[in-house]
Amino acid sequence: MTATATDIPLLSIKAQNAALAAELKEVVGRVLDSGAFIMGPENKAFDAEFAAAVGAAHALGVDSGTSALELALEAVGVGPGDEVIVPAFTFVATATAASVLGARPVFADVDPDTLTLDPKSVERLLTKKTKAIIPVHLFGQPADLDPLVSLAKARGCFIVEDCAQSHLAQYKGRPAGVFGDAAAYSFYPTKNLGAAGDAGALTTQSAETRDRLLVLRNCGRTLGAAYSYERVGHNCRLDEIQAAILRVKLKRLPAWTAARRRVAALYHAGLKDVPGLRLPPLGAGGTEPVFHLFTVRCARRDALAEHLKRRGVGCGVYYPSPLHLSPAYAALGGREGQCPISEQACREVLSLPMFAELSDADAGRVIDAVRAFFK
Ligand SMILES: Cc1ncc(COP(=O)(O)O)c(C=O)c1O
Repeated sequence: MTATATDIPLLSIKAQNAALAAELKEVVGRVLDSGAFIMGPENKAFDAEFAAAVGAAHALGVDSGTSALELALEAVGVGPGDEVIVPAFTFVATATAASVLGARPVFADVDPDTLTLDPKSVERLLTKKTKAIIPVHLFGQPADLDPLVSLAKARGCFIVEDCAQSHLAQYKGRPAGVFGDAAAYSFYPTKNLGAAGDAGALTTQSAETRDRLLVLRNCGRTLGAAYSYERVGHNCRLDEIQAAILRVKLKRLPAWTAARRRVAALYHAGLKDVPGLRLPPLGAGGTEPVFHLFTVRCARRDALAEHLKRRGVGCGVYYPSPLHLSPAYAALGGREGQCPISEQACREVLSLPMFAELSDADAGRVIDAVRAFFK
């Protein structure tokens, strides 16, 4: 079967942008007319609105989620010779954020149910050199933060939460992102909150960390000074146009999140009894995931992917290889069997269509197509 107009994509930002087109064009026009493109009123408003939305004391926009992770680690003092514990199963930026600061990423395994950082694996890897731990709330599933925070406190190291995929997720009644020393968000266009280009944000509960981040983000400038530099910094500022676009979309994020959860509930109801198919938890141990992706696992993953594509159902593999076996980290001597759950996940994961505008009828088609494979 070839692709048709009725195909169901894995992700879709077109429907979202089409519904908001008039408002988005208006705010972009407003910024163009203002001539204020850098660090203007849109940034200021976005920082306040985003902090309120994710329950953080402070937020600041930056130019990508990758920058957010790098600045967060730098702000807590990560540097050459330090170790940063990260999951082996995540997007590469979680680890490269440590590498670019001259620190060493140490790859821990993930929990078999949530595919997020396994505290027991982390505990085994802590050393005197461990400076930070990065729990990633992967696919919108909150990592098990309580034991990770306890470990960090006991060992005097920092927690930077990678919230690139988890806007508005909750862990035991509080928002993911407020448990660590800082949190990094991505607004890559396909994220739950997406810009029209690269963008990201940092949040923190500490005014001191916020001030350090403000300096690092803006070329090391002393706060309030144009040409006085108190440290070596970076230019990671968020463009005013992106901030304006994000403000329009942020208002819809709660409704979009509810819609994602609804699709996840439909998939669960339709697929939970399929033998050989493992589903992501709908909310285990007091967590409320936000389903950036709905990622199932199955031993015959590649055949399932082929079957779905033939039926016009989009799907994708996030991620095909664990980071300890990536050529980028060959020098660290990673070996097969080092993080067995992550390695198995890479062989078995398949993400099904997930976006707020996915209709019940299309979710039903996805369910039927998956069930037909297992018949
Ligand atoms: C888990 C995770 N961390 C970090 C990032 C980096 O974000 P960005 O693409 O905005 O740099 C991403 C985005 O792809 C991600 O999914």
